[in-house]
Amino acid sequence: MRPVAVIGAGCTRFGEKWNTSFRNLFVEAGMLALEDANLSGEQIDAMYVGNMSAGRFVEQEHIGALIADYSGLASHHIPSTRVEAACASGGLSFRQAVIAVASGMEDIVVAAGVEKMTDVATGASVDTLAGAADREWEGFAGATFPGLYAMIATNYTHRYGLTREQLAQVAVKNHFNGARNPIAQFQQEITLDTVIKSSLVADPLRLFDCSPITDGAAAVIVAPLERAREFTDTPIRVIASAQASDTIALHDRRDISTLDASVAAGRRAFEMARLTHKDIDLVEVHDCFTIAELCAIEDLGFCPKGQAGKLTADGMTALNSDLPVNTSGGLKACGHPVGATGIKQVFEVVQQLRGEAGKRQIDGARIGMTHNVGGTGATVAVHILEV
Ligand code: COA
Repeated sequence: MRPVAVIGAGCTRFGEKWNTSFRNLFVEAGMLALEDANLSGEQIDAMYVGNMSAGRFVEQEHIGALIADYSGLASHHIPSTRVEAACASGGLSFRQAVIAVASGMEDIVVAAGVEKMTDVATGASVDTLAGAADREWEGFAGATFPGLYAMIATNYTHRYGLTREQLAQVAVKNHFNGARNPIAQFQQEITLDTVIKSSLVADPLRLFDCSPITDGAAAVIVAPLERAREFTDTPIRVIASAQASDTIALHDRRDISTLDASVAAGRRAFEMARLTHKDIDLVEVHDCFTIAELCAIEDLGFCPKGQAGKLTADGMTALNSDLPVNTSGGLKACGHPVGATGIKQVFEVVQQLRGEAGKRQIDGARIGMTHNVGGTGATVAVHILEV
């Protein structure tokens, strides 16, 4: 395999983008990434686009071709491929781009993600998202994602004695970070009371335990490391790319408060990078709900099972702590345009490793990790990047 580097990255502001179309969201992110890499479109060899459900959100399919066309590349006839793995579509799109470059098949490859979720009402959006779970055994019985993660939270609380305040602190921390991130959907700090007194969505999860419904797009450009300095003074090396899968339904799992696919993908990533947990300077984890962040920290092996709540409440995952988690604000504060989230995580780590993260910059960050989950853990992608 050839070593691979990120040479450019761009991201739209996330939020309710009623004045922008699906395709224009993508074009905006793509242009930002191209400018960042000092590239012109003609230099692109291939594109991968993470997208979960444009068919249901904006009634558009055939996203690979659409995106290449509206990027002005139709006449170049480059391969352009849609990648779908629910909320992990972005993470898998990045992995496909990395594999294409590592294999020697392509040189300059765009990995992007885009989702426009707010053109339909919340109910329709929640139902579309439920298609990422087991429709026959979960969806038809009335389970939506807040409901499924509420079951994880209830099981976890019963077994490990998690307190309401510890869980709420995940959202407080992520809103603090999001308030320092210009692309975040929610840029206001909140208190424990904001979370604990917000409306109940699926017991014990409240509004501020949930990621919101969001429009947004992100794009990064990868290239062989040996060519990276043609485009940037600060190539960011991709030193691990791992992916794992698990049962689609939560009730078929060995243990519903451990995401075994996170355990497997995390372990493979550490092995591939030949690193230990102490080497990681920051990690972007998939906090689609507050409980998901605690499971992720533990399943990736950063602390023993049952301890992430206390760690979070003690400030150990805050900015410039021992293990900064979700410096971007995570899915909670940045928003969660499902196909774009995995690429936004890479965008955040790239900014941090280049020292361009402004008010949320982690001093001396050299190595960062991303963790992107599809469904309740049926697909997981983990990447490690190094400056
Ligand atoms: N966190 C904080 N505030 C939120 C929010 C969230 N997750 N979701 C919405 N809001 C705010 C809105 O900004 C709005 O504020 P305003 O009145 O000041 O403008 C208000 O709450 C109502 O917004 P609305 O869009 O009507 O919310 P909703 O009730 O339709 O949707 C949820 C709320 C929780 C049901 C929805 O965000 C949701 O389903 N989230 C989970 C998404 C999901 O499952 N993703 C996949 C994960 S695997």
